[in-house]
Amino acid sequence: MTGEGARPRPLVAGNWKMNGRRSAIAEAKAVADALAARETPPRADILVCPPATLVMVMAEILKDAPLAIGAQDCHWVESGAHTGDLSAEILADAGASAIIVGHSERRAYHDETDLLVKSKQQAVHRAGLTAIVCIGETKGQRLAGQTIDVVVRQLERSLCDATTPENTVVAYEPVWAIGTGLTPTNADVADVHAAIRDRLVARFGEAGHAIRILYGGSVKPQNAKELMAVANVDGALVGGASLKAADFLGIIAAYE
Ligand code: PGA
Repeated sequence: MTGEGARPRPLVAGNWKMNGRRSAIAEAKAVADALAARETPPRADILVCPPATLVMVMAEILKDAPLAIGAQDCHWVESGAHTGDLSAEILADAGASAIIVGHSERRAYHDETDLLVKSKQQAVHRAGLTAIVCIGETKGQRLAGQTIDVVVRQLERSLCDATTPENTVVAYEPVWAIGTGLTPTNADVADVHAAIRDRLVARFGEAGHAIRILYGGSVKPQNAKELMAVANVDGALVGGASLKAADFLGIIAAYE
């Protein structure tokens, strides 16, 4: 059995994707101000991953805020002749504390493989940051009954042996639920998260219980509380609903 004992401290992470000009900084600031004004802080860590152009300025503006800044991708080497790329070290220097790797949009549109995702996870660790490693099945794979196999295989291959609860967060994001308004049933989320937990414990021992497993895919203020209450769901990776302060705060409210 998994999902028993103390749950890891949850993480609510916003992924702005290719959205957000300077004006969007005000949304993150509004979230930070609302959190700072509370008597009781939420029982979760909060992270916002804006486009890379905003990482440095947001990390500076929000350096004392109860909200961390992360990035959405990185290259796997530290520096060199890689025009247009950003290393984990460069993003760390800009103020990022976490980096998303292996998002399904990177896997689908940039042909990222599990092996490449693992290299990126290792790069994030090398830079001293937390890697948020994304996995998830497509609609076709779900309909073919392959969900658990696909997710567990991605998990096995995308995580390096040096994975710990401090340096890695896993995000389960069914591809068909991203940006579609569709979500799996709570029972389906519970099944996949239990399978992920089992694999983490089998591979990393006790530490596997403390590695956070986020759910992502159409998380909204309306469904957050229910989804976050599912066993082995240790927070959310939020796309569209992280762009507006009111929506993101509505999701964070699941941890009040
Ligand atoms: P969504 O995106 O919340 O807009 O579905 C989630 C994600 O891709 O991380």
